[in-house]
Amino acid sequence: MSEAAAPARPSRLGLCAACHGETGHAAMPGVPNLAGQQLDYLRLALKHYRDGQP
Ligand code: HEC
Repeated sequence: MSEAAAPARPSRLGLCAACHGETGHAAMPGVPNLAGQQLDYLRLALKHYRDGQP
């Protein structure tokens, strides 16, 4: 084997895809696209959710 295999897709990701879309392009109004978003932005947004900040 010369190349590392891609990791298995976690099954709980299906929950996320229901709202955020299989490709990260949200299918529902009011749900943000995740694909192409900046890593730093997502990291900060998730920290704010966790900490209960707006
Ligand atoms: C029921 C629909 C729904 C599901 C399921 C869902 N989300 Fe979301 N998600 C949303 C909505 C709506 C927002 C926007 C919340 C807001 O701005 O107040 C959001 C926001 C986010 C954000 C922040 C994006 C931003 O631009 O601020 C991330 C990251 C995210 N979701 C990841 C996930 C992940 C990972 C999962 C699966 C574990 C998941 N979501 C499951 C509806 C959903």
